[in-house]
Amino acid sequence: MENKDKIKILILDDEKQFTEELSSFFEDDYEAYEANNVGDGRRILHEKNIDLLILDVRLPGISGLDILKEVKEQKPAIEVIVISAHGDMDTVIKAMRLGAFDYLRKPFRFIDIQIAIERTQKYLQMQRKLKQMEEKNSLISKTLEEKIERQFIGVSPQILKVFQQAKTAAQYPDANVLITGESGTGKENIARIIHYSSQRKDNMFCAVNSSAITETLLESEFFGHKKGSFTGAVNDKMGFFEVCNNGTLFLDEIADMPFNLQAKILRATEEKVITRVGDTVPIKTDFRIVSATNHDIEKQVEEKKFRLDLLHRLNTLHIHIPPLRERTADIKPLLDYYVGLYATRFNKPGIKISEDIYDILKTYDFPGNVRELKNMAERAVILCQDNTLNLGDFPVKQTKNKEHVSSIDKVNLKSNEIKMILEALHSCNYNQTAASNLLGISRDALIRKMKKYNISAFKGKEND
Ligand SMILES: Nc1ncnc2c1ncn2[C@@H]1O[C@H](COP(=O)(O)OP(=O)(O)OP(=O)(O)O)[C@@H](O)[C@H]1O
Ligand SMILES: [Mg+2]
Repeated sequence: MENKDKIKILILDDEKQFTEELSSFFEDDYEAYEANNVGDGRRILHEKNIDLLILDVRLPGISGLDILKEVKEQKPAIEVIVISAHGDMDTVIKAMRLGAFDYLRKPFRFIDIQIAIERTQKYLQMQRKLKQMEEKNSLISKTLEEKIERQFIGVSPQILKVFQQAKTAAQYPDANVLITGESGTGKENIARIIHYSSQRKDNMFCAVNSSAITETLLESEFFGHKKGSFTGAVNDKMGFFEVCNNGTLFLDEIADMPFNLQAKILRATEEKVITRVGDTVPIKTDFRIVSATNHDIEKQVEEKKFRLDLLHRLNTLHIHIPPLRERTADIKPLLDYYVGLYATRFNKPGIKISEDIYDILKTYDFPGNVRELKNMAERAVILCQDNTLNLGDFPVKQTKNKEHVSSIDKVNLKSNEIKMILEALHSCNYNQTAASNLLGISRDALIRKMKKYNISAFKGKEND
């Protein structure tokens, strides 16, 4: 192992003999540092790029828990293993709540700490890998990611175009933007990217889902109200339009906006002047509207449920996010990213994804788009028993039409079919009903195919 890959460990304990013994034990495998007082400890933490702190919680004059808190606040990436005295479970619990990764009780065997470190090391490696993966396929910078509190991953030409359009929209901070796309395609991500990349970024991004607010309250939510203007209006209150002064108002599910309110929203959007409910004083406010819908809004216009003039106002710029099934190139990077993310979150280092999963997922419809893929990854990681995610961990039926079948030769088709049947049987532990569900065919059809291809109904034959 090269030195740069060695993890850096600091042992902070007031017993010199203990830190010396431990650091000489670590010598070959890790880059170890010792500190016997808090001052030295802080200095080393500051100067060296420490990955792991082994911390005695009983230090003279100061509580190790305070050090733990300080480290987690200032350098949250450092993992901490705390050492406590036997029987001091209260401290251990407090330490774990403060973000300690693991704990050991004195006296312990070196092998125990070795195991704890190996676990931490795997975890750190996993985090590094996740970061690299993110950097490779992420379309946004780290700072933007922190601001939007979401990631934006993609490699397909379609998503690159969407991203380009979002960047353009960010450069025109006064143009309203309409984002369309099926549920879970990432409309809110794009809205946040637009806001936080624009010159409005230091002011409010306010997300409003009009279908979640009762119609009677909506007007006062948008325009604010004057104290006493209706029962319950106990104070003067700013509405969304005012709160978003110099910022962005994100109107999610715009198609559900009550028809009565649409004319008022249109006027406010055109004039950039509003009046609070129960008041007469006009208030100037400068906002940009980014709206989103997964409905066919043109149809709503035809059915007279949505005002055409408002639609024209809102879609100065229009961004359409294609469904995931139409940009299958994004499936692999998204799955890799989310499996990595959940493996890190649930502390399951080293999870691998079986290669055939990507092909199967490319044939899946993904009605819930990226949100569905994300949930699938989370579920698979939680339920994963051995270290590999197999077909059985992804309960998807193949729903897409296979347009390319005619171009594949028969031998290939046959061998692929055999391979898929074997894999399905294997991942379902040879339960035919489960395997047929996985393959999206009836159990009878599966049995017919097994006979045709001479596939054994029992486990083990193909492993002989
Ligand atoms: N390109 C992407 N990279 C990473 N994560 C994504 C991407 N697109 C969407 N997601 C994630 O998928 C989930 C759904 O995204 P989002 O809420 O933006 O979808 P939406 O289009 O607004 O859905 P809805 O119509 O149901 O409101 C979120 O957790 C989001 O972070
Ligand atoms: Mg949304």
